[in-house]
Amino acid sequence: LRHLIQPLDFTTEEFEQLFRLADQILENPSAYSDVCKGKLMASLFFEPSTRTRLSFESAMYRLGGQVVGFADAKVSSTAKGESLSDTLRTVENYCDIAAMRHPKEGAALLASKYMTTMPIINAGDGGHQHPTQTLTDLTTIRHYKGHFDHLTIGVCGDLKFGRTIHSLVRAMNRYDGVKFVFISPDELKMPQVFLDELDPQDYTETSNLKEAIKDLDILYMSRVQRERFVSEEEYLRLKDFFILDKEKMALARKDMLVLHPLPRVNEIHPEVDADPRAVYFQQARFGMYIRMALIMFLLGLGGQND
Ligand code: CP
Repeated sequence: LRHLIQPLDFTTEEFEQLFRLADQILENPSAYSDVCKGKLMASLFFEPSTRTRLSFESAMYRLGGQVVGFADAKVSSTAKGESLSDTLRTVENYCDIAAMRHPKEGAALLASKYMTTMPIINAGDGGHQHPTQTLTDLTTIRHYKGHFDHLTIGVCGDLKFGRTIHSLVRAMNRYDGVKFVFISPDELKMPQVFLDELDPQDYTETSNLKEAIKDLDILYMSRVQRERFVSEEEYLRLKDFFILDKEKMALARKDMLVLHPLPRVNEIHPEVDADPRAVYFQQARFGMYIRMALIMFLLGLGGQND
């Protein structure tokens, strides 16, 4: 039984199979409108979401499947004290696949250990990992750049709590010649545990976005993750540390891409949205197609060795 808990659960070849399947679905969606007929997805969101939940649910419906679940743990029996493992073992009786977001790091991995028939897709576990956002990010990079090798990626903002960043770096580190520039205030630096996975020659750290932006192929902006802060005062002090605006974009290369997993708060000024290098809304669109491919793959309905 396969699950997707973190990006390295899939090989780069399997990622490529998913990208190819997503391309095929995007080209001819009607050919896939029945492939999940009779299949049921559990959409278990113990934490708020717009894109991940709605793109997963749209993906399943567009594949001809159906969805049950909740978008607020307060309406589930979690509110009565039921454990996560009991909840998931119950849901496995009804559903073929589950997408789950949870505030606790490791929740999706824990849930997967109890499963015998139902693949678990980690839709975000606390500040840890968000592998389907990474699939979305890589689909976007592949679409616009055509390759992953030898890219210089600036990762900017809340590198401490940003689960999309932790997954992105882990996935991109598998490609040849990729360099990372970690751009953050001191308080929100990339955790050592993730830096330890990298060759020290493959990354630099800075708090100077204006300098760093000049040499990037990709700038991956991120929101300061208010919900992970213990101190509201600390959040308020750091939340506007970086604001990407027209002035900074003028320093960047003509072919640099700006990605952001969204939601954004203040970190990208809306004036940047019209810049053709800003592709974060297209990125959100790709998210549905790659999740369609992932659902098919995990249900054994396509993608494997295509
Ligand atoms: N990118 C992302 O995970 O967005 P949501 O929190 O809206 O799902």
